[in-house]
Amino acid sequence: MRQLLPDPPGEVDPVAAYAADDRPAPAHRPWVLVNMVASADGATAVDGRSGALGGSADRAAFSAIRAVADVILVAAGTARAEGYGPPRTPPALQSLRAARGQSAKPRIALVTRRVDLDLSSELFGDPDSRCLVVVPEDAPADRVAAAAERADVVVAGTGGVDLAGALGRLREAGASVVLAEGGPSLLGQLVAADLVDELCLTLSPALVAGESARVTHGPDLPDGLAPLRLVRVIEDGGVLLLRYVVERGPRRPDG
Ligand SMILES: NC(=O)c1ccc[n+]([C@@H]2O[C@H](COP(=O)([O-])OP(=O)(O)OC[C@H]3O[C@@H](n4cnc5c(N)ncnc54)[C@H](OP(=O)(O)O)[C@@H]3O)[C@@H](O)[C@H]2O)c1
Repeated sequence: MRQLLPDPPGEVDPVAAYAADDRPAPAHRPWVLVNMVASADGATAVDGRSGALGGSADRAAFSAIRAVADVILVAAGTARAEGYGPPRTPPALQSLRAARGQSAKPRIALVTRRVDLDLSSELFGDPDSRCLVVVPEDAPADRVAAAAERADVVVAGTGGVDLAGALGRLREAGASVVLAEGGPSLLGQLVAADLVDELCLTLSPALVAGESARVTHGPDLPDGLAPLRLVRVIEDGGVLLLRYVVERGPRRPDG
């Protein structure tokens, strides 16, 4: 893998690169880092899943980025579509995490209204990474009670999960870096609520066309757009691993 930005260009180890990044948590919520893969024309899924877009570079970045997270926030739609299991954190990364004072593995936090979850799946069976289920207070009580047997339940909001509230709970529980892995509808809500600090985007050298959602999907943003600053570019076999930080400078007088 070659780092093209920042200077000087040269070979790079993705684990070391993502681990060295600064991610200061704001006072009332964790730092929120989004990681997604997209085709050159912006698609995030092929036949309903992201797998065809990723290759070895994306897998290496995916693992390196997961290694820095305390919690992996994922919407139930993506967990169902992608068949989520518990995080597979290799022993070397577990040791790195321990050295940084983190748990051996990150925890997965599933965001859901309906709580339509397969509680017998592996995702809910890893004692080293107990799942979190994030629900609004009016989620179906019987399903929430069943989920509580296999996971820790976080309640925030009514009708849908109040994501700012949920992130606040995760911060109170000790999380300082939350990795949001999608899908686009969850990310659209996070961006609309100004809750995203960083975007790690794998740009896959392929065209997909079709109607796949972009990385974020949902209503227009209140300010039209959220500016990003490009802070790192890694290239590997035509795949670009882009790291952006959300700019929160003072608003222009006309903007
Ligand atoms: N390219 C990539 O890197 C990437 C990454 C992730 C996903 N994807 C793709 O994206 C697609 C799925 O994304 P999507 O946007 O359709 O769906 P999604 O955001 O993954 O899931 C939507 C579901 O999440 C739950 N949800 C979302 N916001 C909620 C809130 N505020 N409160 C409570 N529950 C909430 C609801 O689950 P319930 O129905 O359980 O209530 C909702 O039906 C899949 O094709 C997947 O492969 C691609």
